[in-house]
Amino acid sequence: MFFSRNKSLLGLDIGSSCIKVVELKDLGKGKGFHLVNASLEPLSPEAIVDGAIMDSGLVVEALQRCFGAKRIKTSDCAIALSGHSVIIKRISLPVMSEEELAESIQWEAEQYIPFDVEDVNIAYQILKGTHLAGDGNMDVLLVAAKKDKINDYTAVVGQAGKNAALVDVDVFALQNAFEMNYEIDSGQTCALANIGANVTNVSVLKGSSSIFWRDISVGGNQYNDAIRKELNLSFEQSERVKRGEDVEGAATETVAPILSSVNDYVGAEIQKTLDFFKNTTPGESIDRICVSGGASRVLGLLESLGERFGIPVERLDPFRRVTVGKDVPSETVEELSSCAAVAVGLASRKVGDR
Ligand SMILES: Nc1ncnc2c1ncn2[C@@H]1O[C@H](COP(=O)(O)OP(=O)(O)OP(=O)(O)O)[C@@H](O)[C@H]1O
Ligand SMILES: [Mg+2]
Repeated sequence: MFFSRNKSLLGLDIGSSCIKVVELKDLGKGKGFHLVNASLEPLSPEAIVDGAIMDSGLVVEALQRCFGAKRIKTSDCAIALSGHSVIIKRISLPVMSEEELAESIQWEAEQYIPFDVEDVNIAYQILKGTHLAGDGNMDVLLVAAKKDKINDYTAVVGQAGKNAALVDVDVFALQNAFEMNYEIDSGQTCALANIGANVTNVSVLKGSSSIFWRDISVGGNQYNDAIRKELNLSFEQSERVKRGEDVEGAATETVAPILSSVNDYVGAEIQKTLDFFKNTTPGESIDRICVSGGASRVLGLLESLGERFGIPVERLDPFRRVTVGKDVPSETVEELSSCAAVAVGLASRKVGDR
């Protein structure tokens, strides 16, 4: 094999509003991770729209700035897709061997995914222990990702001088980041919500098993849209207003109710998704919610989620069990602490992982 299996990867999250790069060193023997290098670079809103790369030149330039600023040498990256270009399904199949499954998965997948199988890359995993239920079936996790999206994202990484060695999915990377950093209580069901700019990744973990995944089209952009519409401002101005900065024509007393009504909207969308989970998974309830993503910093959002759900809502700290290298400025760590969960989850992957 060309690579050793332990060779680590750069975690590269090409978000629609911001690129995040995280490089971790695995300290081994369950000792956790060390943050070797990290960087982030904003992307203008026209570069990636609804998950599609619309202006690859802008993305490549931003990637190059991101890698260049911190002299990041590692070349192999783990990237992730999200939103409409990925389908994740848990399917039930008759118990069969790995070989039989490998032969039949393409055909099985056809029945479960709304795309032509020729247009997607398929990955799958037999869910451990499910063949023991005694009903002759086993559960398989099926992931299908659109080939054209994979190609677009790997191409920009290539043009920026790096190699996309592994393509993951946002929700799985998010789960990884959580598991790396938190004690898993086998009796608890925890929902993760990563509120980005365009998409919110939602995942539910029962102990250490993930039992639900969903990307919803809601995020920080909703605040920009509402602020621009109400106050007639540019995108850049709305971005500053959202972050609580002073902008002419945006008085605190007019901004606060706008943020608060979008907080309600975002909360209601997350609630719809969690209600769907509860309705389709009888007997399950959620004990706590861990929130991440840049938009989780909007004033009052966490409190509003806490009131809505009536269970503990806390911030997911992707660096909770990560020691920080001396070359990584504390401002970078602080800025990344809300938005780097996916990048951290990706950086913990190894070459050869599936
Ligand atoms: N301090 C802050 N206050 C309010 N909003 C913020 C703050 N910092 C970042 N955001 C918002 O968070 C969003 C970006 O978060 P994140 O980096 O998690 O998203 P992304 O990965 O770029 O987007 P997506 O995954 O949806 O494509 C943007 O909408 C940005 O305006
Ligand atoms: Mg994101």
